[in-house]
Amino acid sequence: MSEPARPTEPQGELVIRTIAMPADTNANGDIFGGWLLSQMDLGAAIYARNLSRSRVTTVAIDAMTFIAPVYVGDIVSCHATLLKVGRTSMRIAVEAWAQRTKGGALVRVTAGVFTYVAIDDAGRPHPVHRT
Ligand SMILES: CC(C)(COP(=O)(O)OP(=O)(O)OC[C@H]1O[C@@H](n2cnc3c(N)ncnc32)[C@H](O)[C@@H]1OP(=O)(O)O)[C@@H](O)C(=O)NCCC(=O)NCCS
Repeated sequence: MSEPARPTEPQGELVIRTIAMPADTNANGDIFGGWLLSQMDLGAAIYARNLSRSRVTTVAIDAMTFIAPVYVGDIVSCHATLLKVGRTSMRIAVEAWAQRTKGGALVRVTAGVFTYVAIDDAGRPHPVHRT
């Protein structure tokens, strides 16, 4: 079976854009995966909040893949695509891309699927679509 074609440009809505800083490096001197994961989580949470017009909380992260390293100075952007809306949950595909400082090449660096639940003031799930 042939592999799906590798995307050459970001898919989905731009939800966050920032610069990778020296404070976010790991022991190799590259950007720490946890920082990247948190950018993806923040970006997808913004998407989920706007969709549900509600507070949201992360309930699951699936299929997280680190594809290429991120370097200090790269411009990192996260892009979100809605996969499914349940009663109280939203499943969102997120990918991060890095624009390299040297040469400006755009590289897909991570991909994952984040699930959020819309919650009320007490932290209890409530419907995404409320009247
Ligand atoms: C998210 C939370 C409010 C859900 O509460 P709950 O009592 O388990 O609620 P439910 O069982 O009714 O599930 C709510 C929705 O989440 C979905 N869900 C629950 N666990 C899931 C999982 N592991 N993966 C995907 N979806 C999940 C359910 O299918 C349901 O979706 P639907 O209403 O669209 O059908 C609760 O588990 C919680 O507060 N978790 C901690 C969240 C948190 O702190 N996140 C930050 C992590 S740093």
